[in-house]
Amino acid sequence: MRKSFDLYFASSNKNKYSEAKEILSKFKLNLGFFEFAPVEIQSNSILEIATKKSLDAYWSCKKPVIVEDDGLFIPALGGFPGPYSSYVFKTIGNAGILNLVKSKRNAEFHSVIAYCDGKKPVLFQGVIKGVISKKQKGNDWGYDPIFIPKGKTKTYAELDDKNTLSHRYITLGKFARWYKKSINN
Ligand code: IMP
Repeated sequence: MRKSFDLYFASSNKNKYSEAKEILSKFKLNLGFFEFAPVEIQSNSILEIATKKSLDAYWSCKKPVIVEDDGLFIPALGGFPGPYSSYVFKTIGNAGILNLVKSKRNAEFHSVIAYCDGKKPVLFQGVIKGVISKKQKGNDWGYDPIFIPKGKTKTYAELDDKNTLSHRYITLGKFARWYKKSINN
């Protein structure tokens, strides 16, 4: 029998989907995966990138979808890599970021979720503050081995409870509360 999903997560990143699925299951939402490799627009705003991605994803999937756009912002580097986090990860990677960050190690992980069901996309934002670790610790994906969320001493990659506190958790929590209200109206 085909599984029925409440809505779809459109992405080419299975790691993000697995985390989003686990987080939304706590809100009793069943999230499907829609494999989607968007043409990302060049923009300094992850809100703008997510908006465009969600419209493209909806017209491709033709079902209610969410997309996520994230960025790691390091104030001492003028907010770099910010909206270019994906490109920077593919080019200089975590080792490159560690070479750039000196004494001021504060950082923020920003997440934007855009929901689209064919109408104007609805946006949700979440930010978690933290610091860049001195060395890579743990083996998880993306920037997980170098980001230590505020109040913790371990990187995202080393934490067992990342999905209860991350930037993704903060944003998806806002989305889930809104979505549940909007479908009950
Ligand atoms: P994008 O939204 O896929 O463009 O994400 C920007 C960059 O941040 C990519 O390199 C992602 O792999 C990375 N990223 C996004 N969320 C996370 C996370 O939760 N942990 C580690 N890296 C992440």
